[in-house]
Amino acid sequence: MMEENKRKTAVVNENEIKKQQEYCKKTAFVISERYAQKPLACVVTYGCQQNVADSEHIKGMLDKIGYGFTENRTEAQLIIFNTCAVREHAEDRVFGNVGMLKSYKRQNPDVIIACCGCMMQQQHIADKIKKSFPFVDLVFGTHVVYRLPQLLYNALTRKKRVFELPDMDGAIAEGVPVLRDNDKKAWLPIMYGCNNFCSYCIVPYVRGRERSREAADVIAEAKALVEKGYKEITLLGQNVNSYGKDLSPAVSFSELLRSLAHLDGDFRIRFMTSHPKDCTKELIDTMAENEKIAKHLHLPFQSGNNRVLQEMNRNYDREKYLELINYAKEKMGDALSLTSDIIVGFPGETYEEFKDTLSLVEEVKFTSLFTFIYSPRKGTPAAEKPDPVSSEEKGKWFKELTDLQEKISADNMKKYKDKVFKCFVYGKGKLGDNYIAARTDGNLIIEFEGSEKLIGTFQRIKVTEPLTYVLKGEKERN
Ligand code: 5AD
Ligand code: SF4
Repeated sequence: MMEENKRKTAVVNENEIKKQQEYCKKTAFVISERYAQKPLACVVTYGCQQNVADSEHIKGMLDKIGYGFTENRTEAQLIIFNTCAVREHAEDRVFGNVGMLKSYKRQNPDVIIACCGCMMQQQHIADKIKKSFPFVDLVFGTHVVYRLPQLLYNALTRKKRVFELPDMDGAIAEGVPVLRDNDKKAWLPIMYGCNNFCSYCIVPYVRGRERSREAADVIAEAKALVEKGYKEITLLGQNVNSYGKDLSPAVSFSELLRSLAHLDGDFRIRFMTSHPKDCTKELIDTMAENEKIAKHLHLPFQSGNNRVLQEMNRNYDREKYLELINYAKEKMGDALSLTSDIIVGFPGETYEEFKDTLSLVEEVKFTSLFTFIYSPRKGTPAAEKPDPVSSEEKGKWFKELTDLQEKISADNMKKYKDKVFKCFVYGKGKLGDNYIAARTDGNLIIEFEGSEKLIGTFQRIKVTEPLTYVLKGEKERN
């Protein structure tokens, strides 16, 4: 084979995956000796959907080993915290929650306590766990999740604590078991890692370099999900728009989406997250042209000011962002739902600059926003910058932004009266006992009176009354 036809991304060797299957059996034997009854595991997940997807793989492996599951930490024989490092608040919660298990572990020395995920991939955090949380038995990083059977075996059989935190670019592991939380809605990771190094963000340091799964593997998994009756498949990646650049031959994200949209069956495809620097008109056309792709674009802009965007190392400007948004609106009209992430109070941001964020929000009219006050992350360039604005002041700006969006959301909602949407009915409603809840293509929630038997199906619902956060509707008569 010629060199350029070889894949650039490392793939975990099949033998390694087989070795882990063997460890599942060995660990199953160990737990059968150690516990009188089938042991229970409690997997606590923080952070983004990628972590949720990782936890579903963790549960898949634990299920193979022979664990049952519980939400209650103090009835579990294995507690795993899958952590998030994106903001300080998330880290503080993890430390608080792990700390609370100290006496439980003292009373139940047979219990295994484990920490994994993005936080653990930072040396100073792993050191803190080593020193200040001696009752944590197992710590493993984001790159070795697939090796859990072996790591757990070691934690159960050795007298020593196990720390497995290789610093590497990361690889793709196929064939790891998965136990999904929901039987209609599935997360489907298509790529891992991030190469963007936005100056505030810890993700590229803890999740390694961008690497894509082979399109054939993604398509096979999606096909199997649809055959099992899954109705909503959300493709996951830190930056899905750069999917496939590392594959040989290269495959674009739009191509992957089209292949998935051509699969037989009644289902909907969603995806996140898109980065404006790599978002193409081709992608927007692909969304517009394929009925099975939800008309929802989550396109984080972070700041509406060009100087701040440059300092953030985002590689696009306000004008390019608005051009993409306007193109998407032109192509998808009212069907389109737009959401975004915004950071308030980036180091050195002035109030004048923040006003550019407000004006962009005013101009675009997003369905909803995910807003965050800047949180310094050790080791990132932004954390070294002077940050003169007080957190009190940033809090005021933040409130101004959320108040503005609340007003926009309420105005947006009014537009939906009498409109009919094809919706996926996902669960019980909150408006009353006989209400069930459905999600539109654009991620709006409509509640209507109906039988719980409709959960898990697509229905056409007419909006009768827009409320502040949800729409009230009724099922269209057949
Ligand atoms: N501080 C605040 N928000 C952050 N995000 C990422 N890093 C930080 C940080 N250091 C936000 C960005 C990103 C979202 C997932 O989290 O808005 O899009
Ligand atoms: Fe972080 Fe930027 Fe990568 Fe998103 S694109 S994960 S914000 S570095």
